[in-house]
Amino acid sequence: MTAATLDALLSEGLNGRRVLVRSDLNVPLSDGVVTDDGRIRASLPVLEKLAAAGARVLVAAHLGRPKGEPEPKYSLAPVAARMAELTEVSVLRADDLVGPSAQEQAAALEPGQILLLENVRFDPRETSKDDAERASLAAELAALTGGEGAYVNDAFGAVHRRHASVTDITAKLPAYQGDLVRDELLVLQRLTETPQRPYTVVLGGSKVSDKLAVIENLMSRADTLLVGGGMVFTFLKAQGHGIGKSLVEDDKLDTVKGFLESAERQNCRIVLPTDIVMASAFAADAEVEVLPVDALESGPAGAEALGLDIGPDTAKAFAAEIAQAKTVFWNGPMGVFEMEAFAKGTATVAEALTTTEAFTVVGGGDSASAVRALGYDEDSFGHISTGGGASLEYLEGKALPGIDALEG
Ligand code: 3PG
Ligand code: MG
Repeated sequence: MTAATLDALLSEGLNGRRVLVRSDLNVPLSDGVVTDDGRIRASLPVLEKLAAAGARVLVAAHLGRPKGEPEPKYSLAPVAARMAELTEVSVLRADDLVGPSAQEQAAALEPGQILLLENVRFDPRETSKDDAERASLAAELAALTGGEGAYVNDAFGAVHRRHASVTDITAKLPAYQGDLVRDELLVLQRLTETPQRPYTVVLGGSKVSDKLAVIENLMSRADTLLVGGGMVFTFLKAQGHGIGKSLVEDDKLDTVKGFLESAERQNCRIVLPTDIVMASAFAADAEVEVLPVDALESGPAGAEALGLDIGPDTAKAFAAEIAQAKTVFWNGPMGVFEMEAFAKGTATVAEALTTTEAFTVVGGGDSASAVRALGYDEDSFGHISTGGGASLEYLEGKALPGIDALEG
């Protein structure tokens, strides 16, 4: 079955109906201020379309990875504030997800208004492995719509999660696919069905265990995998190199060795860094030194040093690989680009993507933020996806629970 579209919902007529929208508003914050509002801007069109059609719009979203209870630093309050700046529609905010504040405000909401509920992950049932727990939260979310509601999933970045507000909710309310989800799927289809070769995937970022899991499947699809970012050190350690205090997943060393062995059989080249920017501390003003991968602990900070970016030789080599490709998918920054001292690797990769004729897709909140933070014009890329893990899992050929749930 195919998913019902947002237009189908609009054509039903919405006069005052409460529509619960799952959006991906997981944006970076610094001191309580949104530092990249890309996902908010990408989510607004559907919310505004619904509001303009006279719906009472309830929005469920997550921010970060809180552990199933309220934590002020993961409040969506700054997101609501930014949203209000970006839209003419009035944006209200609840202090909880399905509690008294949400219930009261959902009941009082006027047609054409948006109510942003508090972080869905403040409730442990959202991400629970127990079907019944997720179903009970889904029922409470559905109840906020007052009996005749509808559900729209527009959170492309979260469709790879089997979470109450993404999957289970579709059993409680008539469910529709948002335009952002539709548009993202159309682009990604082009990458999986007919990628022009060579097809190069650039992988980085800090969600190391998430990313290591995707490599196996990407090896059978891509011709070349360029590995940067935090997961590099698990590879380097697996090869026997000292890595100082760099990020590492010690329980994945064998897995990673396996990747390196099976890559050859699968005709996929895994290209690892040859040099790394090692820092004396995780700080913008740390002492830094570029070191070859077989001598990462030979700088002044010795075994206390940590790698925070790929080195210049590596960046150059990656750029050359990108220049040869016909299709490039990039997920995850090469280093801690938020600090200038560790942004060069990411900037070089971004630059290479803007100067090639290849079809280029940038996937992931952090990579998309990096592109904008480093001042690149979004139009110089083929597509900038709002989904990181979601787009990777799609490219791996995996089923996406949030998409399947919409298809019923
Ligand atoms: C993302 O940032 O990729 C999405 O918002 C999903 O977040 P998650 O990886 O914490 O589920
Ligand atoms: Mg406004």
